[in-house]
Amino acid sequence: MTAPARQASAQQSGVPTPRTAAVDDFGQRLLRWFDRHGRQDLPWQRDATPYRVWISEIMLQQTQVAVVVPYFERFMARFPDLATLATAEPDEVLHLWSGLGYYARARNLHRTAQVIVSEHQGRFPEQIEVLETLPGIGRSTAGAILSLALGQHHPILDGNCKRVLARCFAIPGWPGGSAVLRQLWALAEALTPVQRVAAFNQAMMDLGATLCKRSSPACASCPLADCCQALAQDRVRDYPAPKPRKRVPLRAAQVLLVQDQQGQLLLQRRPPAGIWGGLWTPPELDVDADVADWCRSRLQASVLRLEMLPPRRHTFSHFQFEMQPVLVLLASPPARIGDEGDKVWVDPAQPGGLGLPAPIRHILAELAQRAGSE
Ligand code: ADE
Repeated sequence: MTAPARQASAQQSGVPTPRTAAVDDFGQRLLRWFDRHGRQDLPWQRDATPYRVWISEIMLQQTQVAVVVPYFERFMARFPDLATLATAEPDEVLHLWSGLGYYARARNLHRTAQVIVSEHQGRFPEQIEVLETLPGIGRSTAGAILSLALGQHHPILDGNCKRVLARCFAIPGWPGGSAVLRQLWALAEALTPVQRVAAFNQAMMDLGATLCKRSSPACASCPLADCCQALAQDRVRDYPAPKPRKRVPLRAAQVLLVQDQQGQLLLQRRPPAGIWGGLWTPPELDVDADVADWCRSRLQASVLRLEMLPPRRHTFSHFQFEMQPVLVLLASPPARIGDEGDKVWVDPAQPGGLGLPAPIRHILAELAQRAGSE
C-alpha cells in the first residue's frame, strides 16, 4: 500500500484514534521528557545523513544501542559512504557484522547499496514509497530513516513503540497480528507531530528502551504515567500480549573442530542461503555419523585423537541448534584438493578477516585458550 492510500485506509478503518487534546498532551509530555532524558549524542545522530541513519537502524533491529555503537563506528570507518559499501567484498561486510547476528541484515544492506548505485544513480532515495521497496527496509525503518535524517513527517513502529502504545492505550492482542498492527499504526500516525518529528520518534524508541521496558518498567518515572491506561488498570505487565507460543524444533549436529598436526583448523564457507549464510564455520555432521569415516573420505586423513567438548545450544528465531563440538586431531596431513575458495585452514587464535558467527568465534577462542594452556 502506498503512503497516501495507507493514510486513507487508516482513517476509514474505524480504528479509534485519540482525541486531539490527548494527542497534543501525549506529544508534549514525551518531548519534554526527551529534552531532559532522551538520547541525543549517539554516533549516528551526529552528521545524521540518510546513509548513516540507515546503517544504524538496520544494526539496531533486535540489538541494543550499547552493543551497536562500536560496530557502527567500525563500519563507518571502513564504509564511510554508499559507494564504498556497494563495491565492498561481501566477506568484508560480513566480517564487520560478525557477532551482531541476524546476518541476512548485512547481506540485505550490501545488496541495497548496490541497488541504489545501479538503479538510483547512487543517490539515497528520499521518498518513502521508494525506500520501502529496497531489501531489508520495511515501513518502520523507512519512516525512521526519513524522519531522523531529513525531518520528514512519518510515523515509526518498532518493537519499543509497539510496547509503549499497547500499554498507553491498553490495546489487547499480540502486536504481530495484522488487526493489532493496523490499530497500532493508526495510533502512531495520529500521534506523530509535524513539528519535531525526529525528536518525537527518537523519544518513542528511547522511552520504550529505557523506562517502558518489557520487564520491570519504571512507571514511577514515566512522563506518560498520568495517561497510561494499562497503568490505570494496574495491568502494565499484561500489555502487549505475548506471541502465541509455538514449539520450536531442535536441530542437532556434530561440529567438527578438525586440526592438522600444526594446529591449523578447517573452516568451510556456508552456502549463501540458509542459517549463517555466507559465513565460515567448521564442518557439520549428523549426530550419528562416524567422524573418522568422514575424515577418511573427505580429507584422506586418519584420526589421532577424538574428544567430545561440552555441547552448546544456539537459539535461532525458528529453531534451536544443539551443537556437539568434537575436537579431531589428524594423524596424517589432510588432502588439500578442492581447498580453493570455500575451505580454509586457520590458526584458531587468529582466524583473520573471515565472517564468523559469534558462537563459532567463541568456540575457536576456547580452543586457542586450551592450546595456550597445554
Ligand atoms: N532502535 C531502533 N532504532 C533506534 C534508535 N534510532 N535509537 C535507539 N534505539 C533504536
